[in-house]
Amino acid sequence: MTISAKRAPVRVGVVGLGRLGKRHATNLAYRVPGAALLAVCSPLDDELAWARDALPEPRLYAEYDAMLADGDIDAIWLVTPSSLHAEQIVAALAAGKHVFCEKPLSLDVAQCEHVLAFAREHPELQATIGFMRRFDPSYRDAYEKVMAGKIGRPFMIRSQTTDKNDPEGFFVRFAPNSGGIFLDCTVHDIDIARWFFGHARATRAYAAGTVALHEGLRECGDVDNGVGVVEFEGGRLAVFYASRTMAHGNDTHSEIIGTAGALSVGHNPRASRVEIYDESGVRNECTPTFFDRFEEAFLHEAQAFAASIGARGERGASGSESAGATLADALEATRIGLALREALETGTPVVL
Ligand SMILES: NC(=O)c1ccc[n+]([C@@H]2O[C@H](COP(=O)([O-])OP(=O)(O)OC[C@H]3O[C@@H](n4cnc5c(N)ncnc54)[C@H](O)[C@@H]3O)[C@@H](O)[C@H]2O)c1
Repeated sequence: MTISAKRAPVRVGVVGLGRLGKRHATNLAYRVPGAALLAVCSPLDDELAWARDALPEPRLYAEYDAMLADGDIDAIWLVTPSSLHAEQIVAALAAGKHVFCEKPLSLDVAQCEHVLAFAREHPELQATIGFMRRFDPSYRDAYEKVMAGKIGRPFMIRSQTTDKNDPEGFFVRFAPNSGGIFLDCTVHDIDIARWFFGHARATRAYAAGTVALHEGLRECGDVDNGVGVVEFEGGRLAVFYASRTMAHGNDTHSEIIGTAGALSVGHNPRASRVEIYDESGVRNECTPTFFDRFEEAFLHEAQAFAASIGARGERGASGSESAGATLADALEATRIGLALREALETGTPVVL
């Protein structure tokens, strides 16, 4: 990616320094040439202490509103609980800031629509949702092959997001604000399916799920393993699987099946190209977490966002897809994720 040396870097404020926020902040501070990490915000003292030690002297904010009032910040980078995204995006746009926000846009369709309506009034500002899988080199290669017609007409996608089991129960504590397994995990597979299907409209959703290990999830109506089937217009189908209980690691992979061939992305979730030959046979170690699998994608996503804002200054506003998933994409992903959740809860298919 070439970034004009003359462009001033986009000055970013990262909000939320938890599991993923620390990663984004580190990328923006050290690995994104078009961005400068100007400030961070967290309500927790220990997270601000981490920022003081690990980052190059960012301004520290304990209050989101105080950060929004900082006139030196060009873009807000939200890595906060999903239940806060919609209101925080609107507040950032109202303060005249570009926004990057982690997925999902919201856990509620009406809130998503409100964000879209508000953003339409601010076409000069970029608002992107972090479906980073679109920036993974292998997914992008597969996408370009599909767009070039290499597998004919894609009509079927099988895609899974499965996490390594965490006996400490992080997911149980995380669940009340995550929207459940389909909005938290499958939302990525939904976005990939829509991307490969040329944004086809979903028409019906079916779902089933089970609690295999984490009984605590029942309290908020969640499961630790879920399966969904979504029909799209034009006779296209997607089958999704999400899990919190894998023994071997984060195993995220997808297959795209077309009328003249098929593509598989990440079918062997190997951590590296090393193969181990021992008394168990021949094997690879697996990527332990989503971040190990998608480290490059998170970086490319940040670089693309910074480049897109820099380019806006030169060519004016645009909804260029190269910057990542749009608010409209994210609204559809939430709509489909919620339909899967409803299908799981009611045991009946949901017409979209
Ligand atoms: N793209 C991906 O694959 C991926 C992976 C993991 C998480 N995520 C998303 O990232 C977001 C954060 O997830 P996480 O795992 O880092 O969660 P986390 O619980 O580890 O971190 C949340 C952070 O938000 C901060 N926070 C809470 N309330 C706040 C407020 N009012 N103002 C400012 N900060 C506040 C917390 O202090 C914490 O730093 C979620 O929306 C999640 O869906 C995306």
